[in-house]
Amino acid sequence: MACRAEPPADDQRPAGPLPEPLQWVADGLDRLRQRDLVRPRRTRHGRQGREVVLDGRRLVNFGANDYLGYAGDVRLTRAASRAACAEGFGAGASPLVSGRSASHAALERALARLLGTDEALLFASGFAANAATIAALVGPGDTIASDARNHASIVDGCRLSRATVTVFPHRDVAALGRILASAPHGRKLIVTDTLFSMDGTVAPLADLCALAARHGAMLMVDEAHATGVFGERGSGLVEASGCADGVHVRVGTLSKALGAAGGFVAGHRLLVQWLEHSARAWVFSTAHPPPVTGAALRAVELLAEEPHRRTELVATATVLRRRLAAVGMAVGGEATPILPVIVGSAAAAVARSKRLAEAGLFVPAIRPPSVPEGESLLRVSLSWGHSADDLDRLVTALATG
Ligand SMILES: Cc1ncc(COP(=O)(O)O)c(C=O)c1O
Repeated sequence: MACRAEPPADDQRPAGPLPEPLQWVADGLDRLRQRDLVRPRRTRHGRQGREVVLDGRRLVNFGANDYLGYAGDVRLTRAASRAACAEGFGAGASPLVSGRSASHAALERALARLLGTDEALLFASGFAANAATIAALVGPGDTIASDARNHASIVDGCRLSRATVTVFPHRDVAALGRILASAPHGRKLIVTDTLFSMDGTVAPLADLCALAARHGAMLMVDEAHATGVFGERGSGLVEASGCADGVHVRVGTLSKALGAAGGFVAGHRLLVQWLEHSARAWVFSTAHPPPVTGAALRAVELLAEEPHRRTELVATATVLRRRLAAVGMAVGGEATPILPVIVGSAAAAVARSKRLAEAGLFVPAIRPPSVPEGESLLRVSLSWGHSADDLDRLVTALATG
């Protein structure tokens, strides 16, 4: 059944008078505007896919984390609809009380099997999984060593925990070693993204495992952008790098390559049991709607049925990275489907993103606070569904504008 598109929303809604106590908001927005940091709230009509209709314009979509092309896949829609028919829409309570449906439980079992861990625990989002888990693992008097480029949800989890947080330079294993060696008595937690979402870089997992073992530290990794994309089974970079035994806490998300929504933590049975008692975003938040767990479960099955999607994706990303470099683009990162084209100023990134949209391509401009000041970029997100023609158009448009 085709979904009817709503008419484009009018973003120029007239605003009423701003109450005096909120005047600071207008001043704050003015300051953002002066620095080219105001972001539009776009409306998408129809599904995510290799093309997307944004604010009424059809564009080739290099702006979603839909790496395997499952977000708009009708097989997920059907699975969602089956789960809705069987279990209804709302979960009605936290998973601890009565919100954990049969499809929710089946998804947790499937994720544990995928990662090869005892258990997995589903959170409302990857953000909630990171923030709640860190705060459940360490507290005042403990030490967290966190990579400088970690995702905001890790940063917020560190703050929430009230542990002592030491940020080490991006992927700097020597600096991390010094932090761990001088950490006071108490629990130690190393936390890192595996695939950094804005840089396309990969954490040095083998080194991190060795350091964690040497210093008796817990190692927690966030595989949000690697889940589904890397590894023989598609569980992520931990699997691909063969160091699962040295990683104690594995966070992933269902909202990117798996095309659904939600986050999860996988690990030892007792770790999961501890989180069930102390991860506040799990204890005090309503469980997933069954259609979401039904769709995510189908996506996990598709990882096993369609392994070619991830191998083809990574191979295409490697070729595209080479082609962009050949036309003079400063492309950061490694052999991953995230290809950041470094631009510099926020204004220049916005201007180039607009020119790409005029050429029919959606490539979002990424600006502070998502990246450091002066390192704004165009974030090219590759999907398995992109055609050879899409890639040719991207290379040509970037080379000429
Ligand atoms: C590295 C990283 N971790 C966690 C998250 C949060 O995941 P979710 O979108 O499922 O909340 C994101 C989302 O952008 C991310 O990039």
